[in-house]
Amino acid sequence: MEGKRGEQMDYEFIRVARDQAVGIITLHRPEVLNALNLKLVDELVEALENMDRDDSVRTIVLTGNEKAFAAGADIDEMADETAISMLLKDQFTVWDRIATINKPIIAAVSGYVLGGGCELMMNCDIVIASETTKIGQPEINLGVMPGAGGTQRLTKMVGKVKAMEMLLTGSPISAEEALRYGLVNKVVPVEMYLQEAVTLAKKIAAKPPLAVRLIKKSVLKAIDNPLSEGLAYERNCFYLLFASEDQTEGMRAFVEKRKPKFTGR
Ligand code: HXC
Repeated sequence: MEGKRGEQMDYEFIRVARDQAVGIITLHRPEVLNALNLKLVDELVEALENMDRDDSVRTIVLTGNEKAFAAGADIDEMADETAISMLLKDQFTVWDRIATINKPIIAAVSGYVLGGGCELMMNCDIVIASETTKIGQPEINLGVMPGAGGTQRLTKMVGKVKAMEMLLTGSPISAEEALRYGLVNKVVPVEMYLQEAVTLAKKIAAKPPLAVRLIKKSVLKAIDNPLSEGLAYERNCFYLLFASEDQTEGMRAFVEKRKPKFTGR
C-alpha cells in the first residue's frame, strides 16, 4: 500500500498493510489500549474507504493487538464535553460510513473489546476472537450509555435478555460466551487469531467480488428491514448477477468440470 494517497505515511493511530488481496488495518494506540479518539476513527474510516475503492483489495481485516482490540472511546477526550459540544461535534456520524463499506470486514480481536471497541467489532461482518478476548459495553460505569449502536446492534445479535445484562451491569463476557451468543464466529489460541482471520479473508477474496458484495448487502438488509423487503432485494441482486461475466464463467466452469477464473466483472 506504499505511496498512494491516505496510506501508511499519513496515519498516526492506525497501520495499513497488504497480504495479497487482503487489506489489513491495525488500530495502533497501544499505550491506551487502542482507545478510539476522534482522529483514530477518522483515519480508520478513510483507510476503509480507500480499500473499498481499490480493486486490488477484495477483503479487509481489522485488528488491534493481543492486549486490546479497543478499550472503547477515548474517555479523556470526552470527559469535559457538554451535551451541546457533543451535539455540535456529532462524532458518531462518521461511524455510519463504516456500515456502508461494500467489502467484507473481518475483525480479528483479542483482549479488551469494550464500549466503542465492541460497537466497532459489531460493525464488522465476521469476527475471529482469541481465547483472551473480553467483550463488553461498560459505558454504564461512566454514567453514560453506548452511542455508536451498542444498544441496537448488541440486542439484535445476542437477544434482549443478554443485551440487557451486558448493558446494565457493564460486565464483559468471555470469548467462549460470546461464541455461544453468536457475537463471534470462532475462538482460537491467541497466537493464531490474526492468521486465522487473514486465512478466512483470503478464502473470501478468491470468490467472485460482485457476488460477495451483493451477499454482504443482502445480509445487512435482513437486519434493518421486514422480510418481504429483504426477499425482494435479494431477488433483484440474484437476477443482477446474471449480467456479470463471473456468473457465466462460474456456471460454465462447473459444467466443464474445471476451476473458475473470476475477474470481478
Ligand atoms: C482513554 C484509556 C481507555 C479509554 C484504557 N485507557 N481505556 N484511556 N479511554 N477508553 C488507558 C488508561 O487510562 C491507562 O492509561 C492505559 O490505557 C492502560 O489502562 P489501565 O486501566 O491501566 O489497564 P488495566 O488496569 O489493565 O485495565 C484495563 C481496562 C481499563 C479494564 C480496559 O483500562 C478500563 O476500564 N478502561 C475503560 C473501558 C471503558 O469504560 N470503555 C468504554 C469507554 S466509553 P495510563 O496513562 O494511566 O497508563 C465508550 C463510549 C462509546 O466507549 C461511544 C461510541 C464510540
